[in-house]
Amino acid sequence: MSSSPSSSSSPPPTSGDSPPSNLPLKKIPGDYGLPFLGPIRDRYDYFYNQGKDEFFQSRIKKYNSTIFRTNMPPGPFNARNPKVIAVLDAVSFPVLFDTTKVEKKNVLDGTFFPSTAFTGGHRVCAYLDPSEPNHAVFKGWFLSLLAARHNKFIPLFQNSLSHLFANVEAELSKNGKADFNMLSDDTSFSFMFTLFCDRSPSDTKIGSDGSNLFTQWLFFQLAPLITLGLKYLPNFLEDFSLHTFPLPFFPVKSAYKRLYDGFYISTSKILEEAEKLGIQRDEACHNLVFMAGFNAYGGMKTLFPALIKWVATAGKSLHRRLANEIRTVVESSEGGVTFSALDKMSLLKSVVYEAMRIEPPVPFQYGKAKVDMVVHSHDAAYEIKKGEMIFGYQPFATKDGRVFENPEEFVGDRFVGDGEKLLKYVYWSNGRETDEPTAENKQCPAKDVVVLLARVLLVEFFLRYDTLAAEVGTLLLGSSVTITSLTKAESTG
Ligand code: HEM
Repeated sequence: MSSSPSSSSSPPPTSGDSPPSNLPLKKIPGDYGLPFLGPIRDRYDYFYNQGKDEFFQSRIKKYNSTIFRTNMPPGPFNARNPKVIAVLDAVSFPVLFDTTKVEKKNVLDGTFFPSTAFTGGHRVCAYLDPSEPNHAVFKGWFLSLLAARHNKFIPLFQNSLSHLFANVEAELSKNGKADFNMLSDDTSFSFMFTLFCDRSPSDTKIGSDGSNLFTQWLFFQLAPLITLGLKYLPNFLEDFSLHTFPLPFFPVKSAYKRLYDGFYISTSKILEEAEKLGIQRDEACHNLVFMAGFNAYGGMKTLFPALIKWVATAGKSLHRRLANEIRTVVESSEGGVTFSALDKMSLLKSVVYEAMRIEPPVPFQYGKAKVDMVVHSHDAAYEIKKGEMIFGYQPFATKDGRVFENPEEFVGDRFVGDGEKLLKYVYWSNGRETDEPTAENKQCPAKDVVVLLARVLLVEFFLRYDTLAAEVGTLLLGSSVTITSLTKAESTG
């Protein structure tokens, strides 16, 4: 696959943002370099020499194209084939959502696939292509589990947030600052566990270790995509230990077993429902643990700190406007914080979408071309051959300056009023914000739940506080936030 596909006189149908265009058909620029050495060179550029944003930016500049060929980490010996075609603009990126054109089998983490030992020997839903019959069975089951819990989301999350804010305040008064990530992780885990298991994790053997156990299990699967950023650790040592060989399952075996057992004994009713759908009980439970731990906990682990980071750094004027909107609507709403009250908060809704646009919680998407196709950027069309791997780095698509004005700036009211038209370019859920998840596509089944939780987090925050200050940085898979001050709303003392 090292040679590029040649142009043909009658190109296959186009895929991407809009109908066939009359853009010039060009050869995809870029190369994969020498076998073995090329992928290692790109891996060092990506993790150490350039860093990921500069890695993509410099190649866009070099090739004068947002579509190009490159190797994506990890490469040898984790991935047999690291060669991808990168699509880095808002127009070409959605080809990755079209499951008639791309295969989503085993591509959740990219060009490598962690051992099924991490998931009880099963390929769980997120690794299945919709053409595999089990995908619709599991996805349909998840969608129905979520639908059945519709009325629990707001009250249960409000309850979790009361603990979160009490803990933030306690840490602040004790240490003068509060590690938001750690407290948010605990909140996300116990919310998810209680939602599906109808009991608190502290009533099981998981106790208060849930978020820690999941974090260890996630780290061992995602290590090939991570850099620790430790100054005293030489790059080659980190690269050798994290990126070169798959990490084994056995060091996290007992952590996973505690989680699995905790879920298994607490979910007999929903596991019975799964059995009625023809799913074996143990396979259902491994899927449930993966959904709660990888999809849900993993997603919230990056989303909530990013949301607080962008709101904190946006400044007091946005805080005042948000507090004003939230308090006015809640005061006049009969049931307080309800679905319909939230729907009236147009600035709040926009702020949440803007955070998901500027820092999408799951930034990488992959799909293998199922057919020959033509994908176009703003400027040109490119032919992709069946079997080639397409890769999208989402922040570049959702910060595309040809779609969003001032794309690098956090604009709280970007999606208010006419701005709503831009929602079709918000892709965080592995689909457009204007599309819906189904058993047949690969969009996050909790798309609306996630947006709801992000809104409730800000509502509960601004019902309690007028403003906050925070120090922000980066962590292994996202942003870090340390809250350094909170100003209580006058009415709450
Ligand atoms: C902040 C939280 C969340 C984020 C950011 C998020 C994001 C995503 C993304 C980007 C995907 C597509 C992955 C891919 O194929 O590339 C996905 C899939 C999925 N998510 Fe979520 N998610 C979140 C929460 C949840 C929750 C609460 C659930 C629980 C029901 C969930 C269940 C799933 C499942 C089962 C899939 C696989 C879908 C399929 O195979 O068709 N996610 N999620």
